[in-house]
Amino acid sequence: MHLLEPKDLSISQTAEVLSLARDIIQNPSQYTEKAKGKLLATLFYEPSTRTRLSFESAMLRLGGNVLGFSDSSSSSVSKGETLQDTIRTVGSYVDIIALRHPKEGAPKLASKYSPVPIINAGDGGHHHPSQTITDLLTISELKGGLENLKIAFCGDLKFGRTVHSLTEALGGYAGNFFYFVSPEELKIPEYIRDMLPENSYAEVRDLQEILPDVDVLYMTRVQKERFVSEDEYMRLKDSYILDNAKMLKAKTDMIVMHPLPRVNEIAAEVDNDARAVYFRQVKFGMYARMALISTLLGLK
Ligand code: NCD
Repeated sequence: MHLLEPKDLSISQTAEVLSLARDIIQNPSQYTEKAKGKLLATLFYEPSTRTRLSFESAMLRLGGNVLGFSDSSSSSVSKGETLQDTIRTVGSYVDIIALRHPKEGAPKLASKYSPVPIINAGDGGHHHPSQTITDLLTISELKGGLENLKIAFCGDLKFGRTVHSLTEALGGYAGNFFYFVSPEELKIPEYIRDMLPENSYAEVRDLQEILPDVDVLYMTRVQKERFVSEDEYMRLKDSYILDNAKMLKAKTDMIVMHPLPRVNEIAAEVDNDARAVYFRQVKFGMYARMALISTLLGLK
């Protein structure tokens, strides 16, 4: 089984992964040898701090081992090797592969050639399902469930793959309503919006106007690396900046999430607000990935 996008896991399989993650949080010592003798490869054709180290720390904490590259220029890719051949090769060394790639669909191609499970660790501006498990765990732990929530996604909704994946996932739970807050140029793609039930979303320009109604605010960085024009990036990069003045308008129990890295979109002063949970989200990410790796490896 591969994880290429959130819907590769059914609602009940997702619930099992989340409950496993909760059990790991509560009883970490019971999991330290779970993946003993197993190897994870992290093949990162695009920069990353969190996601790669999150996967690696997750595997090490399960008692497994890790190898891979974080810069494809130091691998045979620079000699012209195709992704298919790299995957067939690495797949004969390891038990599971986490793959990040700038091309949308690369993990799907990889899955056709891989003898072991592939986890999409982010493909271009498409999907990022392990971040979604992280985000679902964060929301369910801090908001008490995944239903009947008002979620606002703010920033670069066009290229933001974490937004695409989390929208797809949360659209599967009852009673959720989505605000998509972005400049016209960075609107959520139609193919993602179309996955949502009718009348379950609104596209807006102004964050402050909807903020009082929101339970989960998901801020995102403008994805510089996906822009063809530097000027366009410069024009749009500071479209939304969350600060303490804006936070005054929000519910007292709203949570502010961000997949990180942050650039300018959340002022540092917000970090001291108890509603800012993006660093707690990072920690949930490690447990989410421990649960995901265990599940995909079929560890009992
Ligand atoms: C995100 C990504 O890579 O898509 N980061 C992450 O995985 N934590 C978000 C981003 O880079 O803006």
